[in-house]
Amino acid sequence: MAENDAAPTVKEIPGSYGVPFVSSIRDRLDFYYFQGPDKYFQARVDRYHSTVVRLNVPPGPFMASDPRVIAVLDAKSFPVLFDVSKVEKKNVFTGTYMPSTSLTGGYRVCSYLDPSEPSHAKVKQFLFDVLASRKDAVIPAFRSNFAALFQTMESQLASAGKSDFNKLNDNTSFDFLGEAYFGVRPSSTELGGTGPTKSTKWLFLQLCPLMTLGLPKILEELLLHTFPLPSLIAKSDYKALYKYFSDAAGSALDSVEKLGLSREEACHNLLFATVFNSYGGMKVLLPGILGWLAKADESLHARLAKEIRAAVAGEGGKVTLNAVEKMELTRSVVYEALRIDPPVKYQYGKAKQDLVIESHDAAYQVKKGEMIFGYQPLATRDPKVFDKAEQFIGDRFLGDEGKKLIKYVVWSNGPETETPSVANKQCPGKELVVLVGRLLVVEFFLRYDTFTADVGTILLGSQVTVTSLTKSSSSSTT
Ligand code: HEM
Repeated sequence: MAENDAAPTVKEIPGSYGVPFVSSIRDRLDFYYFQGPDKYFQARVDRYHSTVVRLNVPPGPFMASDPRVIAVLDAKSFPVLFDVSKVEKKNVFTGTYMPSTSLTGGYRVCSYLDPSEPSHAKVKQFLFDVLASRKDAVIPAFRSNFAALFQTMESQLASAGKSDFNKLNDNTSFDFLGEAYFGVRPSSTELGGTGPTKSTKWLFLQLCPLMTLGLPKILEELLLHTFPLPSLIAKSDYKALYKYFSDAAGSALDSVEKLGLSREEACHNLLFATVFNSYGGMKVLLPGILGWLAKADESLHARLAKEIRAAVAGEGGKVTLNAVEKMELTRSVVYEALRIDPPVKYQYGKAKQDLVIESHDAAYQVKKGEMIFGYQPLATRDPKVFDKAEQFIGDRFLGDEGKKLIKYVVWSNGPETETPSVANKQCPGKELVVLVGRLLVVEFFLRYDTFTADVGTILLGSQVTVTSLTKSSSSSTT
């Protein structure tokens, strides 16, 4: 990235919020229906010739009290959002609105806490401990659950000629996460097969202000984007999910008092981190990766299959962490999917003090208390950093030049080259997520040489319907 040595002069931030109330409604119609997120932000960058710009974000009134933000829309300005000495991350996880805490047992869970709040470190440490204690369970749990998924996929293809990956992934990821984190598959408990539906309902109440469902606009505006839906709708679902966590995570919860947390607060946090952060993430990430692979050249499939099968053969036919670490192309593909289509696209932080934000071209003055917002896809598809930024290039991160780009992959709310800690707001699931993304690719290409799929969009991610699978021509593995 070209950078000027001399400090640029500080400019006023261009852009406009328009007429209060009226313009924010007009803008949200553009965002949801007339332009869509990519065009909405790009159009404003183009209009004001600036990647730092004042604009309104959805949902706006009455859901959010103030839709006005300073948008940071390139790779240079975006990282201000990672600096918790400069931005406050209190109650900004979902943006300018915050879902009711009655959806989370009355607690403000970790994602809504600023690191300056004492419970942030306690809860985040608890989550780190749970993940660390279960790290050896991840690969076996992934393999067994996704082996069953691929079997179902094959039989659906044989009988119906197509298979809805998202639907299969929803059920499989839910069981995988329960088994990986707590050793208990949710479907083998009282929850039975209802976990994913209950979770989706609860997630919907929190995320619907950011979604469109294709219903008549007026209905969506009134139902989804103007007032919060009553949390009562998901009360019994949440209760059933909580029961699973309280039973299945019993031994993890036994250790929380020494961290200074109540069992109850820890359990609500565990539920949120598993269902919202992890399950919500997998619902978007895994179809995203498969979708990009479906659209990629068949030669990429062949290279992946070769790399993956050789690394697994080198470990005596076993999928070990060591084998996965050797798969450089596989890792690059997962980074590329996370770069081109980050699963969590919006990040927010309130200026803790007056500060200056630098873009590639200029520097801008921000006042204490102003809301800074990043639309991550514009930062990770910044043409000043990434060549052919709009293209999915599977081997982009290979070699010395490729490795230099890894720091610009920021899906985890921080550079991929940095580490989450109790003092920052980087995702504590960072290592796990990149591992799980790679495991999907590994399991897939151990079984198949290539495939075809229809890729569309759904709610906050991709919809992938697999239409053919070509079974592996090489010998199988354990
Ligand atoms: C925070 C993304 C999976 C737990 C975050 C943030 C992002 C993110 C962008 C920062 C949000 C913000 O503050 O603005 C993702 C994605 C995932 C994923 C894309 C999967 C594809 C997970 C997993 C866990 C997790 C597996 C399991 C523990 C959390 C928690 C926070 C967080 C607790 C809040 C961190 C803090 O308060 O310091 N994640 N995440 N996430 N994530 Fe993840």
